[in-house]
Amino acid sequence: MKTGENREVGFIAKVGIAYEVLRWEEKALTDAAKELGLDVNLLHIHSLQLIVGHSSLSGLSNIDVDIVLQRAISHTTALNATLALESIGLRTINTSNATAIAMNKLWTASILAKVGIKIPRTVIAFSEDSCYKSAQLLGYPVVVKPIDGSWGRLIAMARDDEELRSLLEHRTYIPNPTMKVHMLQEYVKKPGRDIRIFIVGDETPAAIYRVSNHWITNTARGGKAVTAKIDAELNELALKTARLIGIEIAGIDIFEDPARGYIVNEINAVPEFKNTVVATGVQLHRKIMEYVRNQVRK
Ligand SMILES: Nc1ncnc2c1ncn2[C@@H]1O[C@H](COP(=O)(O)OP(=O)(O)O)[C@@H](O)[C@H]1O
Ligand SMILES: [Mg+2]
Repeated sequence: MKTGENREVGFIAKVGIAYEVLRWEEKALTDAAKELGLDVNLLHIHSLQLIVGHSSLSGLSNIDVDIVLQRAISHTTALNATLALESIGLRTINTSNATAIAMNKLWTASILAKVGIKIPRTVIAFSEDSCYKSAQLLGYPVVVKPIDGSWGRLIAMARDDEELRSLLEHRTYIPNPTMKVHMLQEYVKKPGRDIRIFIVGDETPAAIYRVSNHWITNTARGGKAVTAKIDAELNELALKTARLIGIEIAGIDIFEDPARGYIVNEINAVPEFKNTVVATGVQLHRKIMEYVRNQVRK
């Protein structure tokens, strides 16, 4: 079978890439798809009218693809665009279910904790008073984070009640209902780095250490990407985590706790990977597109 072709001779898969902004990743994915002989259709989400279901309007649909890779930057856009695409029977990667779970750190943590996968010790509180009591349960310092954030945004540490007070005060001025859900975590004493491991289907093609002098190691916040070794335990943990969430393409954040070993922090459903490609030499865009091609319904 030639690349780009499916079981039927001469069938060329039409792959849609749903996006908001063409970052390095989306350009690399487009090039990889073309190299694989796929027909690429770039779907600029903001320019589309996504008809829900096979209504009488569906004749107007301008989406002629066999499968879609979701690459929207905003979690909310990714989830809702995926829901609309799925409504007309389009296979979308990741699925809306997996995207919804991954975009909510509590939902993810709940699923993992239930089966005994180690997560940072976490307490959820719905009032200021309960936050102080939660911090006492965890012991300072505590990390406070939005359940739906990314790029390290709005993540803060409180070392005592006073710092927690000021942090909570700031949160009250953010007009987002999820800010009323307070996720407090122990501060995991990591060795100056975190692990970001990539999932593509049932493989873990690459992982990096995000090395930083700061405890927030996101590469968007200055963390440096260095190739990480994937040992059997890490590999198994990442794959088990992905399977539980039902996620096919993902970047998983994992901490190394000196006493407890690997701890799963969170899952990113639309991971950026430029820094990982540069650090590891693994062509993640190619791996992802090969996976997408193999998922086209036969
Ligand atoms: N409980 C914690 N202990 C230590 N470091 C943390 C903790 N939670 C988050 N961090 C640091 O902050 C970064 C961003 O937090 P994360 O939960 O991954 O949110 P985001 O979605 O913004 O990436 C993590 O990658 C890690 O470096
Ligand atoms: Mg993260």
